[in-house]
Amino acid sequence: MNILLKGGRIVDPSQNINEEMDLLIEKGQIAQIGKDIYKNAKGDSALKILDLGGKIVVPGLIDMHTHLREPGFEYKETIQTGCEAAVAGGFTSIACMPNTKPINDNRSVTELICRKATQCNLANVYPIAAISNGSEGITLTEFGDLKDAGAVAFSDDGRPVMNSALMRRALEYASSLGIPIISHCEDTDLSSGGLMNEGFVSTELGLSGIPNIAEDIMVARDIAIADYTNTSVHIAHVSTAESVRLIREAKKRGIKVTAETAPHYFSLTDEALRKYDTYTKVYPPLRNIADVTAIKEGLSDSTIDAIASDHAPHSSIEKDVEFEYASPGIVGLETSLSLSLKLAAEGVLTLDQLILKMSTIPAVILGIPKGTLRTGSDADITVIDIKREWTVDINKFRSKSKNSPFNGWKLKGKAVLTIVDGEIKYSENFE
Ligand code: NCD
Ligand code: ZN
Repeated sequence: MNILLKGGRIVDPSQNINEEMDLLIEKGQIAQIGKDIYKNAKGDSALKILDLGGKIVVPGLIDMHTHLREPGFEYKETIQTGCEAAVAGGFTSIACMPNTKPINDNRSVTELICRKATQCNLANVYPIAAISNGSEGITLTEFGDLKDAGAVAFSDDGRPVMNSALMRRALEYASSLGIPIISHCEDTDLSSGGLMNEGFVSTELGLSGIPNIAEDIMVARDIAIADYTNTSVHIAHVSTAESVRLIREAKKRGIKVTAETAPHYFSLTDEALRKYDTYTKVYPPLRNIADVTAIKEGLSDSTIDAIASDHAPHSSIEKDVEFEYASPGIVGLETSLSLSLKLAAEGVLTLDQLILKMSTIPAVILGIPKGTLRTGSDADITVIDIKREWTVDINKFRSKSKNSPFNGWKLKGKAVLTIVDGEIKYSENFE
């Protein structure tokens, strides 16, 4: 079925477009963008015409940091439920982290994820394979074989690569294959035993702290290795002011470092932990207001290239327990866009910058042919109603897990239509 999106405002930073135009989808591809497509196509009965009334049409959003939990932890999330959450949140592509069971450190797991994702036929799923076997930080996985099986990046996310020599080899090996390394920056000797951000609030609550330097030191290390070996590195979930400063300086010096943050790091501070709500427990932890301000500045001046959800589903088994025993993680696929749109409303980012960070740049970092509405590209499209007001209700999530500290938040703006490969995968009030 061919589709005409009529009267939307097309925001596509990959082509510097931000204006009201029609968009025609034919055979799963973007066939044409222009002012008069509707006028000329009106009589075509085989065409499904959707009147957007000024809603925003953007290249399908890409979440470059999702945890899908399958194989192994299907009670938290499956590829199916994760993809349902993705398209409901406006994501047409997601890259999933390897900390499943078994770990995605060999081609059979990578292939299984690709096969199941194809069966689900919702969002595009790009597996991220492990850097080290079992993510144990000792021996490298078979990067070439994993790339060949479908992996788009390597990461031991959930765990850092503590051994600097191994990280150096990983960066060198990955760069020869032209595939990114995504680094979870945490010095586990410094973070060990920590439950939340180390500071005033942790002292008052009597919870052991994770100092900012646990992250900063590893960001500095990875930048140093990337500089020395002339390779590139991508820093996951940036949470501290010093990380932002280090990345900004490194970029100025021409070092090939890119970075992402997650919406909770610019939406909440450690004050949110005062009720000991385990849904606010996440690694890296929610920081203080100075860090939140620095993250926003980093987003605004392009030090931070991307916004990723770090969607980390956990069930009541892991969350309805004492704070100390709760697993860290926040679900994000269904709130990420709306929380990020707040940055546009506050003037931290323009809408174009936001779409760059949630679609165009993640595609470039991952090296996938997405993130654009260019003619001839796959019709992966998200339509956003920036005026739509809604209240987060975790019980309405498509995700199997409900661990969101944003439950009850009133947000403005959300995805109302998600199209993947020219097929409508999610729609609100359109049909
Ligand atoms: C993630 C998870 O649950 O897999 N948890 C988290 O707190 N962010 C792991 C990770 O992204 O580091
Ligand atoms: Zn991580």
